[in-house]
Amino acid sequence: MKFLIKSLALAVMATFLLSSSVFANEPLANGKVIDQEKCYACHAKKTGFGNGDMIYTRSDSKVTTLAKLNSMISVCNSELRLDLFPEDESDVSKYLNQQFYKFKP
Ligand code: HEC
Repeated sequence: MKFLIKSLALAVMATFLLSSSVFANEPLANGKVIDQEKCYACHAKKTGFGNGDMIYTRSDSKVTTLAKLNSMISVCNSELRLDLFPEDESDVSKYLNQQFYKFKP
């Protein structure tokens, strides 16, 4: 079942995002693309530094655990109607954790 959902998600992504479908089976690369396409610009604007990475490294970060990271991604995703698949949320979480937060799993 999980495999089916995954295949379906990949097929849909390949259809709609032909340009980035090369990365579809690479969680970290896919997460990076999502961050750049859907998250970076707004975060850059919100921090006022013009750098969308800084929100993840700010000293007053509310994200102190992997669970909080995941729930923050969910909040941004659903509140802002970014329409990420659960698979994409998980990829972006893996990318942000590897790149910035470095929580132990
Ligand atoms: C339209 C604007 C907007 C978009 C688009 C957006 N965010 Fe956010 N995000 C925010 C704001 C504003 C905050 C700060 C919230 C706060 O301080 O309570 C935030 C905070 C976060 C944080 C917490 C950062 C920290 O360490 O404190 C994470 C993680 C995050 N966003 C992930 C994402 C991801 C992943 C996406 C894309 C899938 C995304 N956001 C898209 C506005 C946005």
